Amino acid sequence: MHNKLANSHSPSKPYMAGLAVPVRELHANHRDEILRHFLLLNEEDRRLRFGTQTPDEVIHHYVESLDFDKDTLFGSFDSQLNLIGMAHLAYLPKAKGLPVAAEFGVSVLPDGRGQGIGTALLARAAVHSRNTRIETLFVHCLANNRAMMHLAQKAGMRVEYAYGDADAYLKLPPANPGTFVEEATNEQWADFDYAVKENFKRSNDVWSWFLGKPIVRPT
Ligand SMILES: CC(C)(COP(=O)(O)OP(=O)(O)OC[C@H]1O[C@@H](n2cnc3c(N)ncnc32)[C@H](O)[C@@H]1OP(=O)(O)O)[C@@H](O)C(=O)NCCC(=O)NCCS
Repeated sequence: MHNKLANSHSPSKPYMAGLAVPVRELHANHRDEILRHFLLLNEEDRRLRFGTQTPDEVIHHYVESLDFDKDTLFGSFDSQLNLIGMAHLAYLPKAKGLPVAAEFGVSVLPDGRGQGIGTALLARAAVHSRNTRIETLFVHCLANNRAMMHLAQKAGMRVEYAYGDADAYLKLPPANPGTFVEEATNEQWADFDYAVKENFKRSNDVWSWFLGKPIVRPT
């Protein structure tokens, strides 16, 4: 893997985070939501996300062992504040003479797919990687994972196939003032979006209690 990282692909333009989907950084207090998110993935989605069959016990253990000081996690919340999409950026151990690298893993719940959430999570992880001196972003996935392959190629990643698996690489340019502003803007906007959704949800809950039935509004 490391030799491949040394030759990783350099896109013609650095991959920029769009502001279309708000993406928040997740912390240890989001552990329950992260667990809920993974448990909602069906068997096939878990296989695509983790590369193998992943029963509930393994997911419980995985979430408990997440180290928020070492790795970075990102999330996207729907109007009901469910964690509809999330990404894990795991920093790989440094090896002498090789680029500093991080591995990206992502999942979006079926209801949220096809709306640019996966793209936004990848873009946010790419800009965060640049801002934290990562030189190569890496995604390992099953070669038949067409949605992830499409996402990776759209981001300018180079994809290599071997034995039914695929590795995608993105060589990242160094950070610049623009990348710091971009990430801070996205974080602020995501915080604002979350606060608006929180107020909206609270007012819905009050009306539901008052009327004695759930309020149904478009998401
Ligand atoms: C991969 C995944 C994260 C994509 O999330 P998403 O929010 O739907 O992603 P986006 O909406 O940003 O983009 C999806 C793109 O893939 C395309 N796509 C979806 N299914 C596809 C398929 N079977 N073949 C080719 N392209 C496909 C969509 O058309 C869209 O392309 P566009 O942006 O050019 O229109 C989601 O499908 C998922 O959670 N899968 C299960 C877990 C997984 O596979 N994780 C990746 C391994 S780490």
